[in-house]
Amino acid sequence: MTSLIPTRLRKILARGKRWTRGIPGRFEAWRYGLPEIEPDFLFRNRPRPHFKPITDDCYMPPYRGSSHNDLEFLLTLGHQLDPAIVLELGTAYGNTVANLCLACTTARILTVNALPEQISGEHVTEVLAQEDIGRVYRDAGFAERVTQIFANTLDLALDEYSEPNSIDMAIIDACHDTDFVIHDFELVAPFVRPDGFVLLHDTHPSMERHLGSSYRACMALRREGYDIRHVRGTWWAVWKKQDHAETGSKFFETRTRSKGPNKTARSLSSMSSFR
Ligand SMILES: C[S@@+](CC[C@H](N)C(=O)[O-])C[C@H]1O[C@@H](n2cnc3c(N)ncnc32)[C@H](O)[C@@H]1O
Repeated sequence: MTSLIPTRLRKILARGKRWTRGIPGRFEAWRYGLPEIEPDFLFRNRPRPHFKPITDDCYMPPYRGSSHNDLEFLLTLGHQLDPAIVLELGTAYGNTVANLCLACTTARILTVNALPEQISGEHVTEVLAQEDIGRVYRDAGFAERVTQIFANTLDLALDEYSEPNSIDMAIIDACHDTDFVIHDFELVAPFVRPDGFVLLHDTHPSMERHLGSSYRACMALRREGYDIRHVRGTWWAVWKKQDHAETGSKFFETRTRSKGPNKTARSLSSMSSFR
């Protein structure tokens, strides 16, 4: 019995220590946790794409990682937006690019993946040889609609490939370390057109396993004033770039990002303006 007491006490103390260590994270999640939006926030009552997705080397649930359907959300959003230009950070085998070519029939796609000698960071998912990067979209016959860029996103000179305010939809799915995700978001945001979208994959409030570092990045970006939201039932977070000239109904309630005295400036609109 006596030998049990220290063990129990040790367990209680260890639990208390874990709980205390978690306080900053819980405070941050309470203060800056992402509001939830429904996956059909854009395409409620609108037609969905009708095609069978390519499933070869698919990195998205339900084909990998979990049973909810992240691929369907992405392709339905892409189909409804009908983008002219899509940017993806993190090509892998190119499954998402191939499916986006099917869903967005006129889109040009820029996609970026580091070569083995360029890669850095911890949560990198895969280190792929050049001939494997993008193999799926090339095999599906879409190479002509795609610009493949081999670069570490940290070194990416996006202005060599794109104009500011021109990208309709950007997908952040390269290295999932918190500092990389923040970097990637801040890199692409100026190139996204007003009313365009940035989607961040592997982002979930559970912050379990690989889902935590991107969620933390999104909280840090919310703290900066970017109105990033989590899409309920998915591993997606989404940000819609505001057209600040627009005075009518807004898509998201936003806080404009600004440095200096105007930091708390808000462009107020209500959730009821969701279309
Ligand atoms: C999760 S996978 C991308 C999956 C892909 N978006 C899809 O849906 O099919 C991440 C990819 O990003 C690449 N990657 C990781 N860190 C990178 C970095 N810093 N710069 C560029 N690519 C990176 C990895 O090599 C890997 O192929």
